[in-house]
Amino acid sequence: MAIRFDHGKLERNVFWLAVASVLVIAVGGLIEVAPLFYISNTIEKVGSIRPYTPLELAGRDIYVREGCYLCHSQMIRPLRDEVERYGHYSLAAESMYDHPFQWGSKRIGPDLARVGGKYSDDWHRQHLKDPRSVVPDSIMPSYSFLFATPLDLRPLPAKLRVQKLLGTPYTDEDVAKARQDAVTQATDNADGADDLAKRYPRAVSRDYSGAGSPTPTEADALIAYLQMLGTQVDFKAYKDQANYR
Ligand code: HEC
Repeated sequence: MAIRFDHGKLERNVFWLAVASVLVIAVGGLIEVAPLFYISNTIEKVGSIRPYTPLELAGRDIYVREGCYLCHSQMIRPLRDEVERYGHYSLAAESMYDHPFQWGSKRIGPDLARVGGKYSDDWHRQHLKDPRSVVPDSIMPSYSFLFATPLDLRPLPAKLRVQKLLGTPYTDEDVAKARQDAVTQATDNADGADDLAKRYPRAVSRDYSGAGSPTPTEADALIAYLQMLGTQVDFKAYKDQANYR
């Protein structure tokens, strides 16, 4: 027995068409969204993720400003070829403090989600100044101007405050010390390095741009950011957790 349904009537009545559309969308939405409330590990519990230091945050903003995301993704998919090339697939927790996230949708260049520690600062300096001097076939543009542009420290406290508003757990002390922290992290053997590492575990203070100057450049910020990408999770400890599959 076929169920007869007079579609014509529904389509000619604005009220019932709207009601029926909302109903259909609601059911579809429910099927997509409802399971997420029951999957306790939608965002894995990884204790070691910390917010970006002010210098890394500034580097991230330069990454966005320069449109690096137009050629680079930061999301390793759980597929064998990706995991073998880039390392452990990206966890939701790893972009927990990324506002907005930089997963990207284009890979003209390789994925950068775990590029931190893959190369030396020296390699990054050379590569950003003249990509073809290290990778002859590269089509990446040169960003040598970043080395000549002093980093604008003034907006740092405001940047941290905005991130705080969005849910990143910066303390009032972090906001107050933002400018000093950025200078400290871009300097070799700086006085405040211990204090910085206490508030931002594993934050490394060194002269990222190799210029030896007391004021950080945009290159210091960008390289500090690149060198921390994907280094926040200790995957050995993570795999030992019971909920890892
Ligand atoms: C026009 C596209 C394009 C843009 C824009 C671009 N890149 Fe690239 N990038 C590439 C390509 C292609 C490669 C691979 C060849 C190479 O290593 O130069 C690459 C490689 C890299 C690598 C080395 C990755 C690895 O694992 O070997 C890093 C790091 C990098 N880019 C950072 C950046 C940053 C930071 C920016 C923005 C300031 C940027 N790229 C902008 C195309 C681009």
